[in-house]
Amino acid sequence: MHIVLTSLTLFYFAALALYRIFFHPLRSYPGPVLAAVTDWYQVYYNILQGGALVTEIERLHKCYGPVVRVGPNTLHFNDRVAYHDIYSRGTTLTKEPHFYSGFLAHAPESSMVFSDPQKARHRRNLLAPSFSRQAVMKLEYTIQKKVDQLVALLEENYNSLDSSVTMAFAYRSLTTDIITEYCFANSTNTLADPNLSHPLVLETRNLVRRAWIQIYFPFTIHLTTSLPKKLILWLFPNFTTIMDVQEKFERQIDNFISHPDVRSTIEHETIYHYLLEPKDPGSRPSKKALVDEAFELLGAGSDTVGHACTIGTYFALQEVSISRRLVEELKEAWPDKGRPMSFTALEKLPYLTAFVKESLRMSIGAMHPMPRVVGDETPEIAGLNIPSGTIVAMSSFFMLMNPEVFDNPDTFDPDRWLAENTSEMMADFVPFGKGPRQCLAWSELYLIFGNIFRKLDLSLVGVNEYVFFTLNLKT
Ligand code: HEM
Repeated sequence: MHIVLTSLTLFYFAALALYRIFFHPLRSYPGPVLAAVTDWYQVYYNILQGGALVTEIERLHKCYGPVVRVGPNTLHFNDRVAYHDIYSRGTTLTKEPHFYSGFLAHAPESSMVFSDPQKARHRRNLLAPSFSRQAVMKLEYTIQKKVDQLVALLEENYNSLDSSVTMAFAYRSLTTDIITEYCFANSTNTLADPNLSHPLVLETRNLVRRAWIQIYFPFTIHLTTSLPKKLILWLFPNFTTIMDVQEKFERQIDNFISHPDVRSTIEHETIYHYLLEPKDPGSRPSKKALVDEAFELLGAGSDTVGHACTIGTYFALQEVSISRRLVEELKEAWPDKGRPMSFTALEKLPYLTAFVKESLRMSIGAMHPMPRVVGDETPEIAGLNIPSGTIVAMSSFFMLMNPEVFDNPDTFDPDRWLAENTSEMMADFVPFGKGPRQCLAWSELYLIFGNIFRKLDLSLVGVNEYVFFTLNLKT
């Protein structure tokens, strides 16, 4: 019996491998044989090689050209036309459900998970007013208060050459507080910890690491959601933070729902002002969806902006001429640093603007290819007729690091954005994907960089996974 079962299993896998190599609709696309045979090729790079898939894909494009079969049913492109074809709105491609539901397993009813374009558009329409320029402008005072809190914390606790601060955590603490404040008018206040190591900030990194396990082994999600909470916490004590945050979010949303008058008394609008009062009252998301939306925004809005700030600060300190020009421009436009400078005034500064753009370019945004599924009606992608059901993707790394558009793409060079004509670069500037430009992210980046470089004198003392800086006070 044993031998029969083993032989049948081996036969099945051998037949599957032969089918994928010789008969699959993608058989004519180039790529490593192993990748054509099994998705474990991607699992290996994403899990065992610590997320090195994009580096491997870069190597593959050098060997095989602009279209590579990176999985049995997956094509990756390195072609700017393909990027626009895949991610432009209104196409008939849909989000690949396993990737998104694994990535956001802790928030399955959030808008980013929806692969049904109708459902996604509907939720996006509910959220969109929260991120309009007008709404974000109303939030400026709140963002400024949080930035001031970080500046004060750094001045107080890291004001000598002996003290160093991990700016990656400092920025992530700040952005976590901003987005949770915008959700609930009651932030997680991670900046209350002068060590900048609030468990939620540290946990966000683990969420990303865990995502790979959830994407490739979805049964782990079902297992953890079906087990009693006490047992989960005993098995995985790290989950405490996320569960505490979830309970806090639930309490806050309950409060908003049961006391609608609370919303009119708080200092600023929150995203729940929009989500709880849609034009069509019947379209209000369920409570679970409301909690999940907060989790999605926490993930989408904290690590991304925090990372862009870390990357920009690192390069400015590494190349003294960049930080000097930033500081000179800021000092001239903002002589009295004791008074706040508005987002609209900061936006007008050419070097700061170039610096923000370059920080966004070099931090890449979403490094991993965002997978889409080709539908029956999908037009050609970069001139190719791709079979329906194929997963296609292109990491924005290949757009933002394209030497044909960005000269010396590996160099952090804000001056590239000061050229007379930047329209070609702007057309391929996709740190936010092809979706609408993120007004909240822009406003945060201007206010954070403006205040940090105007008010503090940072210097780089060492670099590791997290990037360390020391800080001296300005005299
Ligand atoms: C530097 C900052 C940011 C970067 C680089 C960034 C990047 C991205 C990218 C690449 C996507 C597309 C993902 C996909 O194709 O599936 C995305 C989607 C999204 N981002 Fe951001 N983002 C940033 C800031 C923010 C902020 C501050 C928020 C608000 C809290 C936010 C909320 C969202 C949401 C809700 C989506 C999903 C849109 C949808 O598909 O329905 N992002 N972001």
